[in-house]
Amino acid sequence: MARYKIAWLPGDGIGPEVLDAVRTVLDASGLDAEYMPGDIGWNMWLAEGNTLPEWTVELLKRSDCAFFGAVTSKPPADAMAELPRRFRGKGIKYSSALIRIRQQFDLFTCLRPCKAFPGNPGNLKEGIDIVIFRENTEGIYCGAEWPRVPQEFYAARGMERVSPNAAVSMRAITRRASQNIAQAAFEFAEKHGRKKIRAVHKANVLRATDGLFLDAVREMAREHPKIRLEEMYIDNCCLQLVLDPLKFDIILTTNLFGDIISDLCAGLVGGLGFAPSANIGRKWALFEPAHGSAPDIAGKGIANPIAAILSAAMMADWLGERKKGRDIEAAVADVIKEGKVRTPDMGGKSTTMEMGRAVAGRLR
Ligand code: IPM
Ligand code: MG
Repeated sequence: MARYKIAWLPGDGIGPEVLDAVRTVLDASGLDAEYMPGDIGWNMWLAEGNTLPEWTVELLKRSDCAFFGAVTSKPPADAMAELPRRFRGKGIKYSSALIRIRQQFDLFTCLRPCKAFPGNPGNLKEGIDIVIFRENTEGIYCGAEWPRVPQEFYAARGMERVSPNAAVSMRAITRRASQNIAQAAFEFAEKHGRKKIRAVHKANVLRATDGLFLDAVREMAREHPKIRLEEMYIDNCCLQLVLDPLKFDIILTTNLFGDIISDLCAGLVGGLGFAPSANIGRKWALFEPAHGSAPDIAGKGIANPIAAILSAAMMADWLGERKKGRDIEAAVADVIKEGKVRTPDMGGKSTTMEMGRAVAGRLR
């Protein structure tokens, strides 16, 4: 029997293509794993009216961790029309399978490293090495949204009637989730010899929610006196990331800010093709490239699989296979440095599988 049970969730868009490349690399690394395929995403919406069917949830519960490709997060406008007749009119909503897994499995840490690999033509500056800790279960992603604004909103603005020309989303922050993500960041800093954590927020406007987040972070900082805590507004953080990315080390932030910052950071080091991520809870985790389904290039076999391959390195590390994790990352670094195999986003003509095989070739 294989040592690890990994739920394998290619999803849709470029997910299946990049996951094929990842498998080539994982097989070459010798990871002793059984890969259990799971249904998820757009195809399940069409077949079941549910992007995350119950049997997939059961599969995830039986696994040690999951590896995920991509799923359509924003369906086309006519998604409802594509839904089979038997599901229509049942109040079914299209929801992101990824967000549901993060919340259902309490994967409160979204860990997103952002590294300028030497020789990557997309690097805006050499030496960038930032690690983002994004709270992954709440904030504006808490799912409390109304297509109509509560009456009080109008009353406060002197408006009499409920208007259909307004909508509201709620941003929920809890001390528990803030403590969880802060603890993950501080423990990571200690373990990896990092010196500084920047807590990124907007507490001058979001006083209650980001006030609570900062409070939990400061409390955690007192328990970890060797790590320096600095606080920074989200807008200034974006400016500084572009002007002087080298002064950043660990970024600790809430859900939506982390989503935005992680794309910004990816842009500093070659784009989303270089943005791996891990969604980690207490006992279970899901690994995925941060790029999403990229429908514009799906099916062409040209997506850059490096983000997914680096996510696989993170998975090996999390499983306790530290050497395999390091070896996979080193193989990626070699291929980038050599510069012979480059996907179109890197200015080359190589395919997804050619990149996968180049990395795998260095592991054998
Ligand atoms: C990400 C993605 C997701 C998010 C989408 C696909 C729901 O952008 O993982 O960064 O917003 O979290
Ligand atoms: Mg994102």
